[in-house]
Amino acid sequence: MSRTRTQIVIVGAGPAGLLLGQLLHREGIDAVILERRSHEYVLGRIRAGVLEQGTVDVLDLAGVSARLHKEALVHEGVGIGFQGRRHRIALKQLVGKSVTVYGQTEITRDLMEARAANGAASVYEAEDVTLHDWQGTSPRVTYRKGGVTHEIACDFVAGCDGYHGVCRASVPADKCKVFEREYPFGWLGVLADVPPPWKELVYANSARGFALASLRSPTRVRCYVQCPLDDRVEDWSDTRFWDEFRRRIGEDVAAGVVSAPSIEKSIAPLRSFVVEPLRFGRLFLAGDAAHIVPPTGAKGLNLAVSDVFYLYEALRDHYRERREAPLDEYSPRCLRRIWKAERFSWWMTRQLHLFPGDAFARRMQETELEYLFESPAAQASMAENYVGLPFESAAAGAQAHVA
Ligand code: FAD
Ligand code: DHB
Repeated sequence: MSRTRTQIVIVGAGPAGLLLGQLLHREGIDAVILERRSHEYVLGRIRAGVLEQGTVDVLDLAGVSARLHKEALVHEGVGIGFQGRRHRIALKQLVGKSVTVYGQTEITRDLMEARAANGAASVYEAEDVTLHDWQGTSPRVTYRKGGVTHEIACDFVAGCDGYHGVCRASVPADKCKVFEREYPFGWLGVLADVPPPWKELVYANSARGFALASLRSPTRVRCYVQCPLDDRVEDWSDTRFWDEFRRRIGEDVAAGVVSAPSIEKSIAPLRSFVVEPLRFGRLFLAGDAAHIVPPTGAKGLNLAVSDVFYLYEALRDHYRERREAPLDEYSPRCLRRIWKAERFSWWMTRQLHLFPGDAFARRMQETELEYLFESPAAQASMAENYVGLPFESAAAGAQAHVA
């Protein structure tokens, strides 16, 4: 067995793990990233596309946003389609902020390149990652690679290994509380190289179910339709997808939709999930390892970034000042922001999807959307959440906690 030591072991090379590694590196704190999948597999995953201003600010702080500022698209509004009408929520005008369209894949690539340039340690295809003694003062993490077992001793473990990872699963059930809601449908997503005929994203509630018109660049679209949970990707030819998308997205948009061949097609289930707390001794959870939101509010990646920012600040202050207090504050500080994003994502999901057989819920949706379209106050509330609620400063968080 090989034995080494570092300050932080980060499990998972998704956006949360890579960003934490980058922020710690700039602070002079050593970390090793252990990732179960290959480098190419991680880069091939197509996921989020919409960034809050706070997320862009953290990427600036991490020094990985040069390409983003050249290539990303800034959107000052977003469309909501319902009953043949489309209403624009004027984000910038209502709350003074915009959102940035830049794919999670591109962020991952930028972070991987920065890590390689730093010469920082990452182990891809690390098998059987196992945590030891995280409840005591000397945690260790073991893994296998190329038939050899490796052990890394560390000060702390950062569990950035997503919903199916090993870190949360290592915590005994009686030490945490789980809050969960599953939704009776999924999202079928298609990526295609064709110029988007829409200028801003459109979220549509149609009688046939939800649809979302999104994009990744001036030449690439990303579109979704609500589908039954037991549908398989093979059930959906490109022609069937685009026909269904056109029927749901609203006539004016549909007229410009081209049935381009898909370059990626996948189905994702929808779930709300939170584990409390996010700290267990010397193990900290961040990102999808700790919470899942249904994608309707575009909050998952953004929440992963705010957790990581808070964890980075706590570790930085701990190493600078040798204090426990910043680490103690990590979990409550994250949870205050997480629950507000959970609420918004749940609200967006309820207003925009078809819940078959629930006539009362349909009337409530109609009423809620009518109110949204009529009321500048309701639009401002939606806009405030969609562009992202502000990050808590460390001092404000401590005060809120004491109060
Ligand atoms: P992940 O990206 O899941 O990364 C975890 C990493 O850990 C993975 O690389 C995994 O391979 C690795 N891992 C797992 N287990 C182990 C193990 N045992 N050992 C070692 N490594 C392990 N969010 C938004 O903010 N905006 C959007 O527009 C948006 N759209 C989305 C659309 C879709 C269709 C989906 C599915 C998600 C969307 N999200 C969106 C959510 C967003 O993609 C996630 O919240 C984000 O990926 C979370 O990052 P993470 O690093 O916490 O987890
Ligand atoms: C995308 C995904 C989302 O969940 C969302 O709310 C907006 C955009 C996307 O993949 O582009």
